[in-house]
Amino acid sequence: ALPDFVKIVEVGPRDGLQNEKAAVSTEQKVRLIDMLSETGLKVIESGAFVSPKWVPQMADSAEVMARIGRKPDISYPVLAPNLKGLEGALAAQAEEIAIFGAASESFSKRNINKSIAESLDAFRPVAEKALAEGLRVRGYISCVLGCPYEGRIDPTVVAEVSRELKSMGCYEISLGDTIGTGTPEEARRMIAAVAEYVPIEEIGVHFHDTYGQALANLYACLEMGVAVADASVAGLGGCPYAKGATGNVATEDVLYMLQGCGIGTGVDLTKVMAAGRFISDVIGRPPVSRVHRALMAK
Ligand code: HMG
Ligand code: MG
Repeated sequence: ALPDFVKIVEVGPRDGLQNEKAAVSTEQKVRLIDMLSETGLKVIESGAFVSPKWVPQMADSAEVMARIGRKPDISYPVLAPNLKGLEGALAAQAEEIAIFGAASESFSKRNINKSIAESLDAFRPVAEKALAEGLRVRGYISCVLGCPYEGRIDPTVVAEVSRELKSMGCYEISLGDTIGTGTPEEARRMIAAVAEYVPIEEIGVHFHDTYGQALANLYACLEMGVAVADASVAGLGGCPYAKGATGNVATEDVLYMLQGCGIGTGVDLTKVMAAGRFISDVIGRPPVSRVHRALMAK
């Protein structure tokens, strides 16, 4: 059965902007996040404390975190792959971090310069310290339905990495179809494998829309009881370590589908569109969201 309510995790300011070629200033990032804070969204991923050599677009995350107007009922998580990243997150007074592993050895190497096992060893002390400092920790897994270097990914590997991240205290595991190649039945099989170790309420899905499958995949997962969906305003983004990957499923498109299904989100589509219009103007291209374009044309 479909859930009554779905939590949207807005990842545009991080996943979206980390791979946009256009220069986006700190001020523009702050404006985007502040606009998103007015929409009803309760989770807005706002930056990444990663190596600026690897992802220069996120180099100003400390400044972004310092300047946004934070609302007490909204979480503004940041990525933190190692203890140095956690230090940055703590200094920025983040209340939530995300660690990010992969279900593919080759992707793990290219994204964070570690094998899967090495990455899990590195995440454990990060999660431990973050929890001791009172932060929430979210776990991501990339390449859950396919890898740009290895092709098909075995759902049991996704399940095993999920189990490890959960054992570190992650309150939620976000399963990423990084390159958007997955289809609904594969998504279902993968969720079923993960659900052996992680309660369905603690599973989030993170679809990139490269092959146009994201909404179909999301719907298949909703039918299994998944009630957390990552999405990116205006469909911003991609991934710097997955060539050709396009943005996350657009928040506007997800909202439209959920509204049509009678599923609550607490998020105002019109206000999300305003934020989407703002950032699309900044990067100089129309929103990727089909719903956004359709409603603008009316
Ligand atoms: P490394 O080179 O192996 O790290 O990178 P290192 O420990 O050897 O350090 C090398 C240099 O980086 C040193 O500086 C460190 O200080 C610095 P140097 O002495 O050369 O001047 N450094 C850092 N600087 C700032 N913040 C840090 C940090 N750590 C080290 N936290 C590392 C390993 C993990 C750091 C690197 O590979 C990295 O930053 N990777 C991040 C890649 C990334 O951000 N990818 C995108 C996010 S994941 C994603 O998009 C997928 C997702 O959306 C889900 C999906 O769709 O699949 C989540
Ligand atoms: Mg992503």
